[in-house]
Amino acid sequence: MAKINLKLLKIEAKKEIKKTESLDYLNKIFDKYLGKKGIVSEVLRSLKSLPQTKRKKTGEAANDFKREIGELIEERKKIFQNAGYKIQDTHFDITAPGKKPVSGHLHPLTLARKEVEEIFENMGFSVVEGPEMESEWYNFDALNIPKDHPARDQWDTFYLENGLLLRTHTSPVQVRYMEKNNPPLRIIVPGPVFRHEATDPSHEFELFQVEGLMVDKKISVANFKAIIDEFFRRFFKKDVKSRLRPDFFPFTEPSFDISITCVVCGGKGCPTCKNSGWVELAGAGMVHPNVFKNAGLMPHPSADGWQGWAFGFGLERLTMMKKKINDIRLFRSSDLRFLNQF
Ligand code: FA5
Repeated sequence: MAKINLKLLKIEAKKEIKKTESLDYLNKIFDKYLGKKGIVSEVLRSLKSLPQTKRKKTGEAANDFKREIGELIEERKKIFQNAGYKIQDTHFDITAPGKKPVSGHLHPLTLARKEVEEIFENMGFSVVEGPEMESEWYNFDALNIPKDHPARDQWDTFYLENGLLLRTHTSPVQVRYMEKNNPPLRIIVPGPVFRHEATDPSHEFELFQVEGLMVDKKISVANFKAIIDEFFRRFFKKDVKSRLRPDFFPFTEPSFDISITCVVCGGKGCPTCKNSGWVELAGAGMVHPNVFKNAGLMPHPSADGWQGWAFGFGLERLTMMKKKINDIRLFRSSDLRFLNQF
C-alpha cells in the first residue's frame, strides 16, 4: 500500500464535507474515507505490516481521523435533515425558487382609519386619542347629559366594576381636549367604542368611531357641510350625495344626522340600508354652550366666546359603503375568505 499522509487527507476530507450540497454526496464521502473499503479501513488493515515503532502512531492517527471526520459528516447530515431533506434525497437544486412565506396584511378597518386620518390631516386637523375606559362625567355629564336624564338611554352602556364604564362614543374626548388646549382647534378622534346592543347587519356592540371637532370664533353649519362633503369626495373618490336631517344630541344645538346614498345598492334599497336607500353615517351639530362651559371655555355669544361644530361617525359603516360590504359583523368574524379580499 502506498504511503498515506493522514494529516493532508484530513484537510482534503474537511474541504469536501464543507462543499457537499446533498445527502447522497455526503454518503459517498463517508464511503470514500470511513467505509469498509474506504481509505482509513485500508490504513488500519495495513497496520500489522508496519514496524512496531510506527504501528502505534499510525493507528492513533487513523482512529483520530475516523472520529473527527465521522463527527463532521454527522453534523453536516443534521443540517440537511433539519432543513427537511431526507437521507434518500438524491438531488438538491439550489437554483429552484423558494416557497413564498405567507404574510398578513392590515385589516380593512385599519386601512380605512389610516385613509380617514390622512384626509383630515391634509385639511389641517390633528389626530387625538382618549381613554376607552371612561368616567360617567366625561361620557355623559360633561356632555350635558345629567344623571337620570332620559337621553342616557340613547347609549346602552357597559358599566365596569371599578366605577368606570366603556365609553359609548368618542365625544368625551371633546371635553378632555378643550380642557387642555385653547381654541382655535381642529381635531379628529378615532377609536373603539362599546354599546350594550344586539347585533344585526348594520349594528355591532363594539364599533370604531371617528369624532371631529372644530372650534373658532365664527363657525357655522355651512363650514361643517363643506368640510364633510370634501371628506366624502376624497374618501369615496367621487361626488357622493349627502343629506343632513334634524336629530337630537344633548351636546349639540342644533343637531343633525348625516346620511349618504347607499353605495351597496346604489340607493335602490337593500338590507344594509334597511331598504331606505340611505345609510346614516354620523351624528353632528353645533357644540352646545354647556359643553364649552364644562371644558372651561366661554361660549358664543359672550364677548370673545367660542363656536364650533362636532361630528361622530362609524368607521365600519363608512368602510361598508366604500367596499360594498353588506354585513358589519364580517369585520370581526376573523373569516379569512372575507379578510383576504382587502
Ligand atoms: C353618537 O355616538 C354621537 N356621539 C355622535 C356625535 C358626535 C353627535 C358629535 C354630535 C356631535 P350615534 O349614536 O348616532 O351618535 O353614533 C354615531 C355613528 O356611529 C352612527 O351614525 C353610526 O355610523 C355609528 N354607529 C352607532 N351605533 C352603531 C352600532 N351599534 N354599530 C355600528 N355603527 C354604529
